[in-house]
Amino acid sequence: MRKVWIGLLAAILFAGNVGLAHAQTLAAPKYVFNKATVMKGALLFADHCSACHSIHSLRYERLETDLGMPKAQIIKSIMLSSSANFLKGMRPTMTRTDAKTWFGIAPPDLSHIVRAQGQRWIYTYLTSFYQDPKRPSGWNNRLVPEVAMPNVLAPWGGIYSKDGKVLHKGRLSPGAYRREVADIVAFLRYASDPSYFKRHELAPYVLGVLILLSLLAYLLKRNYWRDVHD
Ligand code: HEC
Repeated sequence: MRKVWIGLLAAILFAGNVGLAHAQTLAAPKYVFNKATVMKGALLFADHCSACHSIHSLRYERLETDLGMPKAQIIKSIMLSSSANFLKGMRPTMTRTDAKTWFGIAPPDLSHIVRAQGQRWIYTYLTSFYQDPKRPSGWNNRLVPEVAMPNVLAPWGGIYSKDGKVLHKGRLSPGAYRREVADIVAFLRYASDPSYFKRHELAPYVLGVLILLSLLAYLLKRNYWRDVHD
């Protein structure tokens, strides 16, 4: 019976490895997952992505309460949609119907994209666009072939051919561009788990209370057992 279990476990682990090898995702450059990185990512997201993508489950207000971003900055630089409301979820500037007419498919909501696909997948997706005159948008993607999304970051990251040759240099150096994409991914990671910073701020207090309770329980135990030992 034990052999069967070990065999089953090995099969699962092996299947997992095969899956990873197949996806060939790239690791994002190392970044510190802190409020500054996420705020940089939020501004980049607003500039480059919020024309098409919503983040329904993240209210604009959370950027102020979770990250400490000034409300005036959120209103000016993040709330770009005319129907945006500070107390409601992040909206795209384009309507769903327009987007559907132009791209043939409505851009998906990105609230849970990091939970669904993982950070590596999104980083790889955003850095895998290449020029393809056969596609209606002029773009294709190595990770998601025949993708409907255009390469909106091309002016910054540059234009590549399918085999990875640079056709046009971007405004940013390759290193700076990779860091910007990593910042956008960090913001999407936060959007998938907005209580992250609050949880981490609370953690030392929770641990402190637990240690205090353990100490009290220990003192109580010593007090009870003193009579037994005597
Ligand atoms: C001009 C509109 C437009 C802009 C701007 C845009 N996207 Fe997209 N995006 C789309 C469309 C359309 C799709 C659907 C593609 C498909 O399924 O073929 C998509 C798909 C995606 C997906 C894949 C979702 C999935 O599970 O397949 C991710 C991730 C994504 N976009 C992230 C971004 C990020 C990050 C930005 C900003 C850097 C951005 N997009 C900017 C139109 C846009």
